[in-house]
Amino acid sequence: MGIVANPHKTTGVLGWIDDRFPLTKMWKDHVSEYYAPKNFNFWYYFGSLALLVLVNQLLTGIFLTMHYKPSADLAFGSVEYIMRDVPWGDLIRYLHSTGASAFFIVVYLHMYRGLLYGSYRKPRELIWVFGCLIYLALMAEGFFGYVLPWGQMSYWGAQVIISLFGAIPVVGEDLVIWIQGDFVPSDATLNRIFALHVIAIPFVLVGLVVAHLLALHEVGSNNPDGVDIKKDKDENGVPKDGIPFHPYYTVKDLFGVSVFLAIFLTIVFFLPEVGGLFLEKPNFQEANPAVTPEHIAPVWYFTPFYAMLRAVPDKLFGVITMFGAVLILFVLPWLDRSPVKSVRYKGPIFKIALALFTVSFVVLGWLGLQAPTAGKTLAAQIFTVIYFLFFLLMPIYSKMDKTKPEPARVTS
Ligand code: HEM
Repeated sequence: MGIVANPHKTTGVLGWIDDRFPLTKMWKDHVSEYYAPKNFNFWYYFGSLALLVLVNQLLTGIFLTMHYKPSADLAFGSVEYIMRDVPWGDLIRYLHSTGASAFFIVVYLHMYRGLLYGSYRKPRELIWVFGCLIYLALMAEGFFGYVLPWGQMSYWGAQVIISLFGAIPVVGEDLVIWIQGDFVPSDATLNRIFALHVIAIPFVLVGLVVAHLLALHEVGSNNPDGVDIKKDKDENGVPKDGIPFHPYYTVKDLFGVSVFLAIFLTIVFFLPEVGGLFLEKPNFQEANPAVTPEHIAPVWYFTPFYAMLRAVPDKLFGVITMFGAVLILFVLPWLDRSPVKSVRYKGPIFKIALALFTVSFVVLGWLGLQAPTAGKTLAAQIFTVIYFLFFLLMPIYSKMDKTKPEPARVTS
């Protein structure tokens, strides 16, 4: 007999656990009786894929840490040792390095879905804000990870990014020395970056993902129509347009996972450098503080922001622009004043604004990979202005746009 009445009437080992721990309750609340809108489409694969990639990064990261040496003298050699001598070491490293780029591809598509369907709007503001914090943590994690192999791009990338803090008036110069623990990126810098990459940021990231999902399950998922399914419930209190997450979406997500793994593993096995895009060529040379690479560019997922940094002639203002481009995402829920959530019912002005924003982000990403010329710098300046106008003018154009009425029920 149970210690307290077990409402799930489970027996055996499960019953014993349920008397002491809310296992069946959690399964029902978050999986088998979590009612999600029945009209999820392609764009809804990327949340579960982001979880999959997170698990991949944590697991492969643990095994890399077993063989990596966080020391300026040994780091580069230890990565070569992982690639050549550790059993399956090359596979583990490529799963981790390809996973980093996959993480950003998946998260960018996941965020874009939010823009398309207004998933950041009330009551999902906190889901979005936790998402933005995840994105910030992910950027830090990606940057720190890239420094660890202590190749030429690791070293000079770190030098460029850390020196940005030098643009801060009065304290800048001292701050750079404090961050580096030295006058240049060195062994001390590598050690602290290792600690942040392996312990601190993953800890924060996992905590934020839990908060993200708790907030999601508190208010329920949005959907491609932006219609609130909780407004229309049957006699049992179940939303008429909702279906249990399990088995319907567990099976759908498994299909997404299969397609994702087919593409991901093709890259891991046959094309792990992706022509210098996922692993840059100068990083196959050991860090040399005496030789600057000809062309320093960050990995592709940072290049839109790098293009913005270079587009602004003043260093401090460039740094503010670059960080501002990420921070402005946080206030998006309060910039959109449209009466409808989904792009399906929004008017032509929003659609044009979103198209211009999309083009700007992609072109800035490309420009950030190129060596700067006068023409390219001008283009970067124009697209940076468009990027910011998408957000800054949103309170005005989202209000004056001609929207279509939202349907009462979701469309299939
Ligand atoms: C490690 C990274 C992340 C993970 C593991 C993750 C996971 C998830 C999952 C599993 C869902 C539910 C399934 C789905 O709607 O696709 C979700 C929903 C959502 N996520 Fe994320 N997420 C991550 C990053 C982000 C970021 C960076 C943002 C935005 C800045 C974001 C914004 C949202 C929003 C707004 C929803 C609700 C979508 C809706 O109901 O339409 N997430 N997330």
